[in-house]
Amino acid sequence: MSLNLDKLRAETPGVRDVVHFNNAGAALMPEPVLAAQIEHLKLEARIGGYEAAAQEAERCSSVYESVARLIGASVPEIALVENATVAWDMAFYALPFAKGDRILTAETEYAANYIAYLQVAKRVGAIVETVPSRASGELDTAALEEMIDERVKLISITHVPTNGGLVNPAAEVGRIARKHGITYLLDACQTIGHMPVYVEKVGCDILSATGRKYLRGPRGTGFLYIRKGLLETLEPPMIDLFAATWTGPDSYKLRPDAKRFENWENNYAARLGLGVAADYALRVGLQEIWDRIQALAARMRKGLGAVDGVVLRDIGATQCGIVTFSLEDIPASGIKKSLTACDINVSVSGPSSTLLDAMRRDLPEIVRASVHYYNSETEVDALIDAISEISAKRN
Ligand SMILES: Cc1ncc(COP(=O)(O)O)c(C=O)c1O
Repeated sequence: MSLNLDKLRAETPGVRDVVHFNNAGAALMPEPVLAAQIEHLKLEARIGGYEAAAQEAERCSSVYESVARLIGASVPEIALVENATVAWDMAFYALPFAKGDRILTAETEYAANYIAYLQVAKRVGAIVETVPSRASGELDTAALEEMIDERVKLISITHVPTNGGLVNPAAEVGRIARKHGITYLLDACQTIGHMPVYVEKVGCDILSATGRKYLRGPRGTGFLYIRKGLLETLEPPMIDLFAATWTGPDSYKLRPDAKRFENWENNYAARLGLGVAADYALRVGLQEIWDRIQALAARMRKGLGAVDGVVLRDIGATQCGIVTFSLEDIPASGIKKSLTACDINVSVSGPSSTLLDAMRRDLPEIVRASVHYYNSETEVDALIDAISEISAKRN
């Protein structure tokens, strides 16, 4: 089924002001997401923050249902947190590592995650190893399987890296992790709301995500999925009086569900916005979203590829909505500045965000133009025209 683009754009106030290709940074929120937050903020201002949360308790708790439905999980497996990094860190630092334990990751791993591996390696003597990539760019699952032995305690990868269109074979990795009984952590920060991601199909034990990117939710929202059965065995690295109950002078009891990874204070307006964003994505249709994003990104790559001096930087057999490129003789920051002057939003991806991949491919700073389903073909063509003009002025 195709999307009703006119309706979707009418519900996206931002498209009247900008051509937004920074969806991998933070997408434009649709009207209902905005309204849910404003309504709740007004209620807080009118009757008090605690009182507003109490009055809207049912809607607040339904956010867990919306997020669980989005990824095919159950409510007790979901923790709502402030961003993807907190979600990822809370899970990763709860895993017990000892000297000699091996952590396997991909060459396109996100900087924050890799830094955390290095810290654990430094602290306990765990070993971080990257699985080689296939010639097409994604993690090589045959190589992964060959690397497995009884010392591998975690397989942890980023589904779609921050610096390009690559999609790692998350479900193939999941099958290998399950076969060998190894915990599997998936950073789905760039994929939730971008393509269908169902935890059972992917086979991950832990998944982290953010609200503001392809899900089109508010900033300062994120969530964590931890498979039931695993979560009961994990002691979060940080707990408070929400995550656990103080049961006696020398004792506490952790909550039985994934909420043990949360803490007490929250931005309820943003949370409500997150729930509405999840419902909105489900209403639009995850497969429909993915199909349209791929078509728009393919159009953008084709158009940019024909511009003199443009070097497309995306790798991978399957390519997503994150389109990356550079233009000979002009730094990415200069291109971004010129596009901003035409009300076209893009971002710049620097080598240190995905260091191993950047080193391997000798990547400079690159322009990241990330498309979403609500972008129009006209907008894509406007970006291509703008880049053609910038290119023509080079000499
Ligand atoms: C792949 C990936 N993982 C994690 C993050 C961190 O997300 P957050 O800023 O919500 O913590 C990002 C942010 O760009 C990302 O691209």
